Formats: sequence, structure tokens, C-alpha cells
Amino acid sequence: MCPLWILTTTLCLLSKFTVSTRELLPTPPLPLLPLPSFSQLKWQQREIIMFFHFGVNTFTDSEWGTGHENPAIFDPVGLDANQWVSAAVNAGVSLVILTAKHHDGFCLWPSKYTRHSVSSSPWKNGNGDVVRELVTAAKAAGIDAGLYLSPWDRHDRRYGRDLPYGSIREIWFDGAKGSNAPNMSYYFTDWFAMVKALQASINIFSDAGPDVRWVGGETGSAGSTCWSTINRTSLSIGNATIVDYLNTGDPKGTDWLPPECDVSIRAGWFWHKSQSPKKLSELLEIYYNSVGRNCLLLLNVPPNSTGLISETDVHRLREFRAAIDTIFSTNLAEKCFIKASSQRGGKGGGFGPENVLDGDHLWTYWAPRDDEDVKEHWIEIRGFGAEAGEGLRFNVIRIQEAIGLGQRIKRHEIYVNGKRVAKGTTVGYKRLYRLEGGMVQGQVVRIRVRESKGVPLISSIGLHFDPFWHPNGQQLT
Ligand SMILES: *[C@@H]1O[C@H](CO)[C@@H](O)[C@H](O)[C@H]1NC(C)=O
Ligand SMILES: *[C@@H]1O[C@H](CO)[C@@H](O)[C@H](O)[C@H]1NC(C)=O
Ligand SMILES: *[C@@H]1O[C@H](CO)[C@@H](O)[C@H](O)[C@H]1NC(C)=O
Ligand SMILES: *[C@@H]1O[C@H](CO)[C@@H](O)[C@H](O)[C@H]1NC(C)=O
Repeated sequence: MCPLWILTTTLCLLSKFTVSTRELLPTPPLPLLPLPSFSQLKWQQREIIMFFHFGVNTFTDSEWGTGHENPAIFDPVGLDANQWVSAAVNAGVSLVILTAKHHDGFCLWPSKYTRHSVSSSPWKNGNGDVVRELVTAAKAAGIDAGLYLSPWDRHDRRYGRDLPYGSIREIWFDGAKGSNAPNMSYYFTDWFAMVKALQASINIFSDAGPDVRWVGGETGSAGSTCWSTINRTSLSIGNATIVDYLNTGDPKGTDWLPPECDVSIRAGWFWHKSQSPKKLSELLEIYYNSVGRNCLLLLNVPPNSTGLISETDVHRLREFRAAIDTIFSTNLAEKCFIKASSQRGGKGGGFGPENVLDGDHLWTYWAPRDDEDVKEHWIEIRGFGAEAGEGLRFNVIRIQEAIGLGQRIKRHEIYVNGKRVAKGTTVGYKRLYRLEGGMVQGQVVRIRVRESKGVPLISSIGLHFDPFWHPNGQQLT
């Protein structure tokens, strides 16, 4: 796109009269509140991030430790955080989150405020620091680090207030608490203020935000309607009655609080000798139901008691990344004509439908005219050359909204050669359809936006082929 100032300057030089030339240039549509912050936008574009559940539970074959574990059991003799990070990098992950302290209270860093930590363990004669090793390994590999801290502490009621680890991008506050645990008020408001004071650009995760919200379940699946917006005042941490609200969000929500889907690659969060990683087809299902429904996928990969990620998990992660790359590296729409019901500012105005085929999935977009009389908005992809003859063949459709200006689409439908193949509600940062009927073939694909808050702004569209998708045993050739 031609920078605005060049255009403005040129127009000024060409103009003989002193009329305002600015009004010749179409202005962008007004944003629709609430909007994502810079850190939330950066978070959203990561798509998949990784969890490392590791600690005393790794050595006791348990998921929730009692807090009475003897630190002597913690001895991951072969611990190599570079191996964890390289597994993450191979899976295309740019942020890894470590359980620095789980419910058992055992700190994976040498806290000044408790002896219940790596300092009391035989690992590295008590001189080890798993947090430091992970942060150093992540930095060396050029990816970001995050920490999980359980407020529920079954060992010690005091709280380690030191986070001297450089830049931390996400902090994860778990709402889980045993039903017979003593009642205790957490000072979340004070903690959040302290976290923000120490780390200005961090995203704080909890059931209730303030930056990232829980999706309301741990199966890696968002609601098929999924708004990034919600009312924070209706949320509270550890409140089981709000899980459905968390799952779908709120079209009228006053806060931008996008959901994160946490799920483990194995049955448990921690490593257990008896468990093995999920199949590739299960991971892909999770991907479509999380990333494909406007969420971030937080995939847990638990290091084993040697202190390494098991080879089976490393292998599965590589397969997972390769599968995603295979499906999405080719966009059949790129070779097509593209047409829309209308465009803001007319041809050459900078908001044409061709913007949905460029590499920018955030700030260049198709914007229709927003006059009151324009009722129906659609965008159409039409094959030509070879594609016009036999048609486009695909089984996955991708739609993305320009969420920097707010989430808008409430209801949409997709037609191939006039026949409806998919319909849904929200789109958000990314909506993926893996077609229920399997492969479709046709010359014309039309996306109709049936209902939206303000005009819809679509930043990207893709038509893809997923060779791993065989609904009803359909074989693809
Ligand atoms: C915690 O408080 C709630 C509400 O006041 C009460 O119903 C519950 O029995 C208490 N639990 C314990 C373990 O004291
Ligand atoms: C749980 O959430 C509901 C709905 O917002 C609210 O009415 C209720 O007071 C909350 N309960 C607690 C314990 O915060
Ligand atoms: C969220 O807040 C908005 C604005 O106050 C309100 O219109 C909407 O009904 C609220 N949603 C719920 C579920 O209460
Ligand atoms: C942990 O994983 C590494 C890498 O696959 C393997 O060499 C080691 O034997 C595993 N440790 C255990 C206790 O299974």
C-alpha cells in the first residue's frame, strides 16, 4: 500500500487550488470498543503456547501434591531445559510456561521466603534453579517465558514475592482449590498490581483475567460461539457457575479478555510413567476447536523425572507442527479472483477485498461501505484458469477478522457454487471450518456475513486442504 503521506503530498502538489485534499482519501472505519491491548494482540498471534508441568509430582506419580513431600525426592539428574525449549521451538511455539510453584508449594526456584524449594533438594546439591534454567534456555532460543503460580499452597501460607528473572510475558493464576481446603481470601487485586508494577507488558491469566481469561474447561475446546469480549464484573476466580459464560464470552462484554484453552498432551498435567501422548488426530481436533475458534492453545508437555521431555512427546510435537504446516502452507484462494459486495472508499481506497489475500492478518483488511442502506455484506472467491474448469478442491476454510478494531461478526455462512457448506456465529482472530461433509469442489466460494456489530472487517481468508481429515471414513486422493 502507498503510504498516505506520499499520496497526500502528491495530491497537494497537483492541486492548483487551496481546497482540502484530505477529504478525498477514505478514512479507516472507527474502532468498535472494547479493543485488545498491544500485549493481548501479540499474545493472540502466538496461536500455540506450551505448558511445562514439572515438580515434586513428577516423582510421586501424582497430580496434586500434599505439600508434605520431602524435597529429597526432587532429583532430575539429567535436567536439560534446552531440550524442553527445542521441543517447543520444533512445535512452532514462541512462549513456554513453567509451573514454578504448584499446589504442593514446592518452589522450582530458590525462594528467599521458604525452604520448601529446590534449595532443599539433592538436585545440583541444592544449588539448582529450574526457573533460571528455563528462562536462560528460552532466551537463547529467542522465545519468551511465562510462569504458573498456584495461589493455593498446601505447604506454606507465605508467598515468594521475588521475580528477578528479566522479562516475563505471561503469569498464570490457577483457580483450583480442594473442596476441603481451609477457606482463605487471596489478595488477587494486590498481587495483580504488584505483577504489573514489576512487569509492565505481562499478560495476567486467571479465571477472571485481567488480560487473558480461562476458557472454562480443560479439554482444549472453546465454545463454537467465542467472543474475546466479556464483562469482568461478572467473573470471579474459582467460581464453577461461570464456566459456560467463560466458554462463549459476551457480545455485549465491556472488556477485551480473550480466552486461553489449556490442555495436556497426555491425560495428566504432570509426567506419569504409565501415560503416553495423545494421537495426532486428537491434537488436530484440539487445534481446530481452540485456535480455530478464536482461542490460544496452551498445550502442556510434562518433562519426566530425568528432567527431559520424553522422546514420544517430542516426536508427536514434531508431527503436530508438520501437519499444521502441511495444511496451511498452501492457500488455494491466492490464485483466485476476489470480489465483494462493496468497498469502503471505492477502488484504490485501501480497503478492497484483495487485502484478505496478503500476509498481514491484522492491519490490512476488506471493509465494506458502512452506509445505512447497505444491508448485505459478502466476499467471493472465484477460480480462474485451470481452477475455473474443474474447480477448487478443499476441505478447510479459514476466516480472520481485523481484531485490532474490535471483534464484530455475529453470524455468517459459507456457500460453494450456491450450496451452503458451513455456517457459524463468531469469527474473531481466526475461525477454521474443517468441513463436515469432507472435500468440496467448486468455482465460486462466497462468505456471507449475516449479522455483525458495525461493519465486518475481514483481514484474511484461506481455502486449504487437510490430508488428515477423513470424516465418515472418506478417503481423499
Ligand atoms: C468455607 O466457607 C463456605 C461459605 O462461607 C462454607 O460453606 C464452607 O463450609 C467453608 N469451608 C470450610 C472448609 O471451612
Ligand atoms: C459466582 O458467579 C456468579 C455469577 O457472576 C455470582 O452471582 C456469584 O456471587 C459468584 N460466587 C462467588 C463465590 O464469587
Ligand atoms: C455485560 O454488560 C453490558 C453493558 O453493561 C450489558 O448490556 C450486558 O447485558 C452484560 N452481560 C451480561 C451477561 O450481564
Ligand atoms: C525421560 O526422557 C528421556 C528422553 O526421551 C529419556 O532418555 C529418559 O529415559 C526418560 N526418563 C524416564 C524416567 O523415563
